[in-house]
Amino acid sequence: MDKIKVTGGRPLHGRIDIGGAKNAALPLMAAALLTEEKLTLSNLPHLADIATMAHLLSHLGVAISMDGSSPAEGHQGRVMGLDAKGVKDIVAPYDIVRRMRASLVVLGPLLARFGRAKVSLPGGCAIGTRPIDIHLKALEAMGAQITLDEGYVLAEAPKGLQGAEITFPKVSVGATENLLMAASLANGTTILHNSAREPEVSDLAECLVAMGAKIEGIGNSTLIIHGQKKLHGADYKIIADRIEAGTYAIAALMTNGHLEIAGISPSILGVTLDALRNSGAHIEEKTDSIIVSRKDKIIHPMELTTDPYPGFATDMQAQMMALATIADGTSHISETIFENRFMHVPELLRMGADIHIDGHTATIHGVPKLKSAEVMATDLRASVSLVLAALVAEGTTTLNRVYHIDRGYERVEEKLKAVGAQIERVRGS
Ligand code: EPZ
Repeated sequence: MDKIKVTGGRPLHGRIDIGGAKNAALPLMAAALLTEEKLTLSNLPHLADIATMAHLLSHLGVAISMDGSSPAEGHQGRVMGLDAKGVKDIVAPYDIVRRMRASLVVLGPLLARFGRAKVSLPGGCAIGTRPIDIHLKALEAMGAQITLDEGYVLAEAPKGLQGAEITFPKVSVGATENLLMAASLANGTTILHNSAREPEVSDLAECLVAMGAKIEGIGNSTLIIHGQKKLHGADYKIIADRIEAGTYAIAALMTNGHLEIAGISPSILGVTLDALRNSGAHIEEKTDSIIVSRKDKIIHPMELTTDPYPGFATDMQAQMMALATIADGTSHISETIFENRFMHVPELLRMGADIHIDGHTATIHGVPKLKSAEVMATDLRASVSLVLAALVAEGTTTLNRVYHIDRGYERVEEKLKAVGAQIERVRGS
């Protein structure tokens, strides 16, 4: 397994180009299952999770073509063609789903287009049990018959799905995405209350509209979908990754550098910008980028609680905690979305951070300096928070199990090295 070594102390200067959003690309790829015409996606990030979804879709019979990088508007994302005309299998197997929970997002489109879907239960992961009850109850409300057997969900709707009025008991990004796609081909109108409003969910809705779906209320918590008989192909450019952008903005702040984070509209960064400014960042907003540096000499402590969008993103929690470890004072960060998303804490403690956990709240007393250590990545955002800490720690930190990072950060060591970080990947055996 590869390792990443980082020697701290270098301020980062220059420009980092942000790729397409992983959490938009994955449901957008699954949307190809809804039509027999070709869906072309551009600004696609080059990530392990994208490769896993491509593997799953081709297993189902989707013809996938990778058309190199797209010069569209200067984004270097890749262009992928997906043609689901020849889909003959409706089973998403355990050995793929267990590696990537987001595979679940093929359930809605398979059921809507073919009347049947068999998807392995995803199992838990490092940050929590992550059940799928909200997905299943909502699909049943649309007339699906759901049975669980040998670790698989079998969903059937031989007469097609029926429009329904559904209130999600809890905001769920994946369930909203599955239901958006299922409702796009249902008989009649579906109303979804308490839907997720993440920009990646809206990106999926916009792509479905480009494919001929009729959706009202995009960006709001109530979505109205008028089912269509068929959807057609489309060419769609994936939204930029707000979590990648926020992560590198924190790197600029922590290292007391000056970075242009390019290829993203500041408007989708939402409260992350507020949190960064409150921590002492100077942020210049441009049409398609932000420029981040320190406004003050010190980093101010923070009081943050994760919430569904437009609240503070749980996917930014670990990274903001890395920032808090070197703030001038005491911070509190509460995690309300997942039950076990503090896996980065024990590793940050090994680097000299001063953090106490009480239930869902971490209290972080800022320290003048972190120290390098050998640390372990456990999940995607926890691992990148350790890279951020290593960028300012004294000495050379070795990060093990970097495959977690490769799931969500394209060429992380190249992007950081290009702006002055002393970072290298050591190929594993
Ligand atoms: C998506 O996961 C993202 N993944 C996650 O990003 C992100 O952290 C999460 O949304 C919240 O924003 C992708 O988009 C691929 P949820 P998802 O359904 O859809 C509970 C990353 O780092 N729940 O909104 O799985 C669930 O356990 C990843 O990029 C149920 O109880 O998240 C959690 O506590 C990590 N029953 C909460 O809801 C269900 O049926 C929110 O989960 C579904 C979810």
